Amino acid sequence: MSSSLQTRTIPQLVAMKSQGEKLVVLTAYDYPSARLVDAAGVDAILVGDSLGMVVQGKPNTLAVSLDQMIYHAEMVARAAEHAVVVVDMPFPTFHLEKYRAVENAARCFQEAGVQAVKLEGGVERVDVIRAIVDAGMPVMAHIGLMPQSVHKMGGYRVQRDRDRLLEDAHAVEAAGAFSLVLECIPVDDAKEVTDAIGIPTIGIGAGPECDGQVLVFHDLLGLTPGRVPRHVKAYADLKTTITDAVCQFSNEVRENIFPNQDQSFQ
Ligand code: KIV
Repeated sequence: MSSSLQTRTIPQLVAMKSQGEKLVVLTAYDYPSARLVDAAGVDAILVGDSLGMVVQGKPNTLAVSLDQMIYHAEMVARAAEHAVVVVDMPFPTFHLEKYRAVENAARCFQEAGVQAVKLEGGVERVDVIRAIVDAGMPVMAHIGLMPQSVHKMGGYRVQRDRDRLLEDAHAVEAAGAFSLVLECIPVDDAKEVTDAIGIPTIGIGAGPECDGQVLVFHDLLGLTPGRVPRHVKAYADLKTTITDAVCQFSNEVRENIFPNQDQSFQ
């Protein structure tokens, strides 16, 4: 499958909007999963700071460090042959001072080998976005529900301030962002933002009118423990598949069925 896939670039992702082609984005956090996701033909792989929750088992994304993001992003970037690899800048690596943000973004390019960074925020982050883009590093912006601001937002809630969303979307586009994640906003607002700007919007919990969609790897595969949010669609039930396989292995060891002759050396 992988040999027929096109190697994606940032300008190609931007052009997909005007060509009416949907962008497919999925998260990945390690080498084997990134290889599978890349070979399946997604356009971009996001090394999201959601890894704080789905890989590290933390209650939110706030404790994820830049070193941890680089550790995961390096594996993903090494695995990806076709997809653009984007890494999330974790809290608070782009909040303190814009040149520190440029330095932190640069570490992602130099040490992990990604092609873009993503950062949360609208109007309040335009200086940082502009500085990173001016240094030659593409930025994917992210507005609506911003998980790094979970405490400020009072939880993981749908964001309904349409005027603010539009203002933020225009601001990040003007600052040079090449794409924009819209997380957990009403369908009509997502359509209005998508129609209003020239860069592609990538929705998660933002309905079908966005220029593309992103999901978290563990959610898509049915690996997420407990309740999953309404916007998630699980395309597989790997929790059951993995549990069944481990139970079968355990039974076979206990009943002396595994290993047999075929799995043994003479
Ligand atoms: O961290 C992440 O995985 C994200 C996506 C859900 C957009 O930001």
